[in-house]
Amino acid sequence: MGNDEMSSLVDTSDEWIRQRSGIQRRHIASEAETTSVLGAEAARQALKAAGLAPDDIDLIVCATSTPDLTFPATATQIQMALGMSHGAAFDVQAVCSGFVFALATADKFLISGSHRSALVIGSETFSRILDWTDRATCVLFGDGAAAVVITAEPGAGTIADRGVLHTHIRSDGRHRDKLYVDGGPGSNGKVGHLRMEGREVFKHAVVNLADTVEHTLAATGLKGSDIDWFVPHQANKRIIDATAHKLGVPESRVVYTVQDHGNTSAASIPLALATAVGDGRIQRGQLVLVEGMGGGFTWGSALIRW
Ligand code: ACO
Repeated sequence: MGNDEMSSLVDTSDEWIRQRSGIQRRHIASEAETTSVLGAEAARQALKAAGLAPDDIDLIVCATSTPDLTFPATATQIQMALGMSHGAAFDVQAVCSGFVFALATADKFLISGSHRSALVIGSETFSRILDWTDRATCVLFGDGAAAVVITAEPGAGTIADRGVLHTHIRSDGRHRDKLYVDGGPGSNGKVGHLRMEGREVFKHAVVNLADTVEHTLAATGLKGSDIDWFVPHQANKRIIDATAHKLGVPESRVVYTVQDHGNTSAASIPLALATAVGDGRIQRGQLVLVEGMGGGFTWGSALIRW
């Protein structure tokens, strides 16, 4: 759905949306395309790219805030769609930081030795929780899904190893009212709509994202200039630019996809990874830094050697 189509629904314009967010279009799932349907398709593509079959996977972690149902977990519906009845599947809910939280969770399961290969999926149908009469929010979000496979392998224990090298996750529940959904099974029994204080979220995003990236760099002894690709959560081009500027990362090493799918919450980082791997920018052995922030507030980052 392009910005012009959006301006036929609410009092907005292509110019306003592009200037304030960098978004040019977003994708809206059809009625039959639930979060688990999108997530299962992303999982199939990730398995194909990894040269693995569902039998090789023993863990599925799905990051989503728009589950098909209140329960069971969307991850178990994806598990079923992949024809798997072994292993474990569960959801992680950290809104736009969901992928970083899911990756950190799966990584720790693999490090512990309890599981060997994980599908980490970000899948969302945010179009279903938007207030389509609120121009301040409905123009910013879209639907999508993407996935990665991570597999445990012995390494040297240094940053020369391939895979997830470091993860850092944070949350602060005091900011609930700045970004939330005004419904839920335990409160009013409704699905609810997304509510946001955009300016407040913007301010916190830049500070928190720079902080988590600096934490990850300090923990690994790296500098911003050592990172080959900076793959941020795709909420808003201005947030990405301001964070990259604060960290001294040049625009040429930042992956932007927000223009093509808006903010897809937990799906946005893996969608950006898939884009930059698909077009050959991210190469085997390169250092990739991902970061995200979302409702809660939650935020976090991960350093990956591809
Ligand atoms: N079209 C036209 N005008 C609009 C629209 C719209 N879609 N939405 C709001 N406006 C108007 C407002 O009504 C306001 O008008 P007024 O001055 O007459 O009252 C004016 O535009 C300015 O509104 P602001 O909210 O002050 O605009 P701002 O420059 O802060 O931009 C935005 C708004 C884009 C939401 C910005 O604050 C932002 O990006 N915040 C971060 C939100 C975000 O990314 N959230 C995602 C989830 S969290 C995360 O992922 C990091």
